[in-house]
Amino acid sequence: MVETIEAKPGKGLASPAVATRTTPVALDDVSLERSNRLLSGIGELDRVLGGGLVPGSVALIGGDPGIGKSTLVLQAAVSIAAQGVPVLYATGEESAQQIRLRADRLSLMSGNVSLLAEPDLTEVLGAAESMQPGLLIVDSIQTATVADLESAAGSVGQVRESAARIISWAKPRQVPALIVGHVTKEGTIAGPRVLEHMVDTVLYLEGERVQQYRVLRAVKNRFGSTDEVGVFEMTGAGLAEVANPSQSFLQQRVLNASGSVVTVTIEGTRPILVEMQALSSPTAYGLPKRSANGLDSGRLQLLVAVLQKRLGLNLGAQDIFANVVGGLRINEPGSDLAAALAIISSFRDREIDPGTVVVGELGLSGEIRSVGQTERRVAEAARLGFTRAIVPAHGSPARTVAPGIELVPVGTLLEAVRAVFRGDG
Ligand code: TYD
Ligand code: MG
Repeated sequence: MVETIEAKPGKGLASPAVATRTTPVALDDVSLERSNRLLSGIGELDRVLGGGLVPGSVALIGGDPGIGKSTLVLQAAVSIAAQGVPVLYATGEESAQQIRLRADRLSLMSGNVSLLAEPDLTEVLGAAESMQPGLLIVDSIQTATVADLESAAGSVGQVRESAARIISWAKPRQVPALIVGHVTKEGTIAGPRVLEHMVDTVLYLEGERVQQYRVLRAVKNRFGSTDEVGVFEMTGAGLAEVANPSQSFLQQRVLNASGSVVTVTIEGTRPILVEMQALSSPTAYGLPKRSANGLDSGRLQLLVAVLQKRLGLNLGAQDIFANVVGGLRINEPGSDLAAALAIISSFRDREIDPGTVVVGELGLSGEIRSVGQTERRVAEAARLGFTRAIVPAHGSPARTVAPGIELVPVGTLLEAVRAVFRGDG
């Protein structure tokens, strides 16, 4: 049941069935002003937004609590304010002092950022109306309240009404707005999901809170591609852009350890190299564990089943853990083969050559299926000095994709195993 505000009955006659106040515009005549986008100055954020904030657009930044949303919007606020654009940062979560402390910690200061610690949205929009900021930030939508509704802050009714009011304030005034929204796994608090269709852009800040990397992903963007991701690192001084994600994700790699192999995943339009780790150890008691971090656990179970069936590996009494190092979450099947080989490597305690990258989707019959953009993946691996790439035979790129890297096309899991653990099979 969702509480909504009752519309007042209109006075006098009902509105006519046909109105003539608006006129359509020819498709050709629609102006395409792109230059007036407001750049946050944070390259990774601007990229995910599709080239900065569009005037009057409303973007939602969602993510788990504590992932760094407030940090990101504060950094953006200060950076935009530094261009001389006044920013109103309204927060119902923290006091103005807390934000000041965070800004101090980040060594960010700006007289152009005005803080308002106020959950009541009517007050916030009132302040915005008199201040006329160039950017409005509401942190978070779960704490924003509309006094006309009796339900608690964070309920679906409040969240939806608050967002609707922000949107109807921002649109006609051509002021971009950033809304922060928490996502909870339980879904007890009405999350950003109920807002996705209302706002123009939906970005999610993802990552493991205990690890340093964060990925900012666009899941909806009316003003740009949803293929873009931004990569950040949470440091002692806020979120830092990671210009070379592949290099960063491989930084702490232990060479010559069993259970580890490098794969190239595609995040949006960018190939990113990550280390895939697996550990296989005998089950002490009860059912064998299957635990995945950074990849889908159902996918891991499927890979284990394929290894058992197609290679005859006896994994039935083994606990198997798989981990994508660095906190990245892989949602595409192109890293299947890497995960499978990492499991074999750990199970047999045999290392995989650290100069090798592995790309490919694993089919249920043990066949290696082609993945998108193999050439770009291989080129990225070559750029980082890898010398050998195990790739799907089907749709494998020309041998001259990049100098210095040998392509090893494989059609089946067994061929891949033979190519990686030479002479063993
Ligand atoms: P925060 O932006 O408050 O998260 P959210 O708004 O998404 O709930 O930041 C969360 C965590 O980030 C906090 O636990 C501490 C950490 N952090 C740093 O590691 N470095 C920093 O410079 C800052 C500001 C926060
Ligand atoms: Mg916060």
